[in-house]
Amino acid sequence: MSNDLYPDLATRFIKRFGTPHTIAAYAPGRVEVLGNHTDYNEGFVLSAAIDAGTWCLATPSPDLQCRIAAGDIEQEVAFPVTDIRADRKTPWANYVKGMLAPIVKQANPAHGVRILFQSTIPLGAGLSSSAALEIASGLALTTLYGIPRSKLELARMGQAAEHEYAGAKCGLLDQISSLFGKAHALVRTDFRSLEVTTVPAGDATCFLMCNTRVKHSLVDSEYNERRARCEEAAAFFAKILSHPVQALRDVSWTEFEAHRAAMHPVTARRAAHVIGENERVLKGQRLLKDHDLAGFGALMFESHESSRTQFENSCPELDAIVESARTIPGIRGARLSGGGFGGSAVILCHPQDASRIGQQLASQYEARFSKTPEIRVITPSDGARLLPG
Ligand code: GLA
Repeated sequence: MSNDLYPDLATRFIKRFGTPHTIAAYAPGRVEVLGNHTDYNEGFVLSAAIDAGTWCLATPSPDLQCRIAAGDIEQEVAFPVTDIRADRKTPWANYVKGMLAPIVKQANPAHGVRILFQSTIPLGAGLSSSAALEIASGLALTTLYGIPRSKLELARMGQAAEHEYAGAKCGLLDQISSLFGKAHALVRTDFRSLEVTTVPAGDATCFLMCNTRVKHSLVDSEYNERRARCEEAAAFFAKILSHPVQALRDVSWTEFEAHRAAMHPVTARRAAHVIGENERVLKGQRLLKDHDLAGFGALMFESHESSRTQFENSCPELDAIVESARTIPGIRGARLSGGGFGGSAVILCHPQDASRIGQQLASQYEARFSKTPEIRVITPSDGARLLPG
């Protein structure tokens, strides 16, 4: 598939709707490099926008009808702009509806919209295809209806769409990474202040994504349960520590160790993961500045081990990839990336080793699970944007 779907999509837009698009936007997927489930705990994450994304083309309708078409599956939904509701039968459309609903509420428009989108992000791979769709459609729709939004406002709209239209109580990581991505750099976000900075990735840094092609059927409910446990842990520390605790971000490892025995063991394990991850991100950022990739990679392995044993959001396939990664020469670090319970692992290596490492990882995975993982080199890329013409 071509890396740039825009020209082809523009032609297909005319074929489908009989009129050209007037607005086009693009938003990339993301890879979570370090900092797992820390975003909704008001902590820190290092992530990157990737070189795969979603294109969204739109134009106003002559009437009140909205038509949303998914280019890759050739499906379309239609509904009046005055009646926007989630529909379980077409889950892909709910992300766009979740962005459209608040815009319509504010703009009170006299017309609907026609939308065609398509993506190069593999679905269910843990690369945030849903956030890319939210952000691409959000950028296009806010422009089309004349109510521009800042990047952070768009990110919050995307998060609300997930909460209200898809049922996942996610944080802001996916949307912020898609919006603030920078070529050749990592995005470093403080999820309390929402300050976003970039950290140069360096020429010796290459990320490989290894998609297990596994998707846990209960991923949303498992995710929401983990989030509830983290909030329970924060409430526990808020009662016993002498300083204010608003989220697990406010609890140090030393404080955690001093009180963990008094906690429910499952809640304590979940808290251990988040508190440890926050410390790893802060340390990892310093190591990256010093070009210490071996040290940074070791933190990625630690992060995975913590996911496996404390947060219990890994799965046998992800564990097998990370185990292989520990034995293949040239791999600096490896860990699960994103929510967990399937999806992808991210591998850190030198660009010149990427192809050999990819082949070795694939053959070990195939030998064990009799299925082929999807492996691709990820290039940290620029974030979401409106496209000309
Ligand atoms: C998913 C969520 C994010 C974040 C990660 C885990 O990608 O959408 O908000 O919580 O999981 O770090």
